[in-house]
Amino acid sequence: MSKIAPSILAADFANLERDVRDIEKNGADWVHVDVMDGLFVPNISIGIPVVKAIRPVTGLPLDVHLMIDRPIRYVERFIQAGADWLTVHVEADQPQNTLECLDKIHALGGRAAISLKPRTPAEAAIPYLEKCDMIQVMTVEPGFGGQKFMADMMPKVKKLRKMLDEVNPACILEVDGGVDAGTCAICKESGAEVLVAGSAYFKAADRAAFVKKLRE
Ligand code: DX5
Ligand code: ZN
Repeated sequence: MSKIAPSILAADFANLERDVRDIEKNGADWVHVDVMDGLFVPNISIGIPVVKAIRPVTGLPLDVHLMIDRPIRYVERFIQAGADWLTVHVEADQPQNTLECLDKIHALGGRAAISLKPRTPAEAAIPYLEKCDMIQVMTVEPGFGGQKFMADMMPKVKKLRKMLDEVNPACILEVDGGVDAGTCAICKESGAEVLVAGSAYFKAADRAAFVKKLRE
C-alpha cells in the first residue's frame, strides 16, 4: 500500500501547527518538509527551526527533503531537530560527500534517501543504491510547488525499481511534484511507494478523502 506524504510547502505557514495536525487527522502517513536554500534551487523556504517546532506536534514521520547545496554541512542538525527521513540531492555535492551524508544520517539513527532532479538519469543513483533506504524521483523541477507533473519520469521510476530489486530490494521509491488524484495511478503502477502531494492535498475540499483516493 502506498504512503501519502503531504508537503507543508503548500500549507498556511501562519497556521502551520493546525495544518500539520490536520495531516495526521486526515490519515496521511508522513509529513513532507521542503527545505530550500536559494542556491541549489531558486527559492527559499524553511529550515531547521521549523523542523524542530513541528516535531512535537505530530507523531508522523518527518520526511525532510533538502534542496540545499552541500547538505553534508547540515544533515546532523536536521536529524537532531527531528527529521526521521532525510533526503539529499545527488546533484548537490561530490559523490564522496553524498556517500558520507548517507552514512552520517544512519549513524545518527535516521533513514537516508537520495533525490534525482528530472534531468538526472537513473544511473546517477548507482553509487548509492546499497546505502539508501529510499530514492526520490522528482516529477517537477525542484524549487516550487504547483507545477505540472512530468509523466516522462515514469520510465526512470521503473528503471530504478529494477536496479534496486537486484541489490537492495528493501529500498523504497518516492515521487515528488505534481502528484494529484489524476497522476497518482501511473506513479504507483511504475513502482512508487511514497507519493508526495503539496498543492493537490491542500487544495482538496475533503483532504481525508483525497488521502484515501491517492492511497487506493
Ligand atoms: C518541489 C518540492 C515538492 C513540492 C510538491 O520543489 O520538492 O515537495 O512541495 O508540491 P506539488 O505537489 O504542489 O507539486
Ligand atoms: Zn519535496
